[in-house]
Amino acid sequence: MKVPIASPVMTEKMIEAAAAALRNERLTLGESVFKFEEAFAKMCGSRHAIAVSSGTAALQLALQAHGVKAGDRIIAPAMSFVATTNAFVPFGSVPGFVDVLEKDYTMDPAKLKAAVDTKTKAIIPVHLYGHIAAMDEINDIAKETNLVVIEDACQAHGAVYKGRIAGNLANAGCFSFYPTKNMHVGGDGGMITTNDDKVADACQRMRHCGRKKGSNYEHDIIGYTYRLNSANAAVGIEQLRMLPEWNQKRRAAAKMYDQMLKGVGDLVLPPQPTDEVTPVFHLFTLRTPRRYELKTFLDGKGVGVGLNYEIPIHLQPIYRQMYGSREGMLPVTERMCKEVIAIPMFADISAEQIKYVVECVKEFYSK
Ligand SMILES: Cc1ncc(COP(=O)(O)O)c(C=O)c1O
Repeated sequence: MKVPIASPVMTEKMIEAAAAALRNERLTLGESVFKFEEAFAKMCGSRHAIAVSSGTAALQLALQAHGVKAGDRIIAPAMSFVATTNAFVPFGSVPGFVDVLEKDYTMDPAKLKAAVDTKTKAIIPVHLYGHIAAMDEINDIAKETNLVVIEDACQAHGAVYKGRIAGNLANAGCFSFYPTKNMHVGGDGGMITTNDDKVADACQRMRHCGRKKGSNYEHDIIGYTYRLNSANAAVGIEQLRMLPEWNQKRRAAAKMYDQMLKGVGDLVLPPQPTDEVTPVFHLFTLRTPRRYELKTFLDGKGVGVGLNYEIPIHLQPIYRQMYGSREGMLPVTERMCKEVIAIPMFADISAEQIKYVVECVKEFYSK
């Protein structure tokens, strides 16, 4: 048996929706884009959703719409995909990395508090693997210190924190629709959610080359070509309809893994839902000091694995070079990044596939 690490869905209905948009709509910022935004905002409980070309673009525009500029320091975890900070490094803002909590791999609020300095302007908590960060504590610190909080919800579409949905837990939320995410748009895409009319307006103008509202040739803000294509939005509408069911299936798969892998070898399993957090298991990530051995073994068995993330952002070669960061700065992050290994997780993973993956993991530990 072969079990992939992820398996993006593309149904005939989604293909037809894209074809209809290609035939009948403006190719960018067509009707489907606005319908997709409306549906996405509703799902998050946010006043606005602004569709863009990627999650990275979403983070960049959300920060800039809040007035973040060159020289400002932005605090983020280094245990994330590099795009979390790539979103602002090119326009001259400086990353201030903080460590994560060992229990759920999200930003450690105590470390955040200690890391805020006079240059700090914004905080980006990352809802890693689909598990929401400690938003109450993070928002409290932001309020005390007058900082902007932008959720990196690129892995957390539909995740719930104390009854509220990811993307509606801070000043703005940013999502990615990269194909392996919990929902996609048949290519790259992203979304910004916010309850702030001015932020929404700035994001809408910046994604569209900085055009003045209602004008084709007048530009009153520096902007970018970060629009979402109409065909992608049409796919997104259909994917969004499926999201609640898919997230439920991911949670059911995660529960099976949890029950079957508990107590196996030296494995540390990811957090399950609690009264406060309903995660969406973008990834199902195990931890073991033997992760390279386990990877080699599972590779040989046809089981897809991921090392998310093998290198924390601050230790990526370009970040070392630009900011002089080195080992030892973020002990928890660095230890986690030496041990994490993601096993297959997608909405349509079958019980047989889960059993096979578990059998292979058990076989590895029985040797
Ligand atoms: C945590 C996180 N942040 C940001 C991004 C960037 O999204 P994109 O690849 O759509 O630019 C991703 C996904 O790739 C991500 O997983």
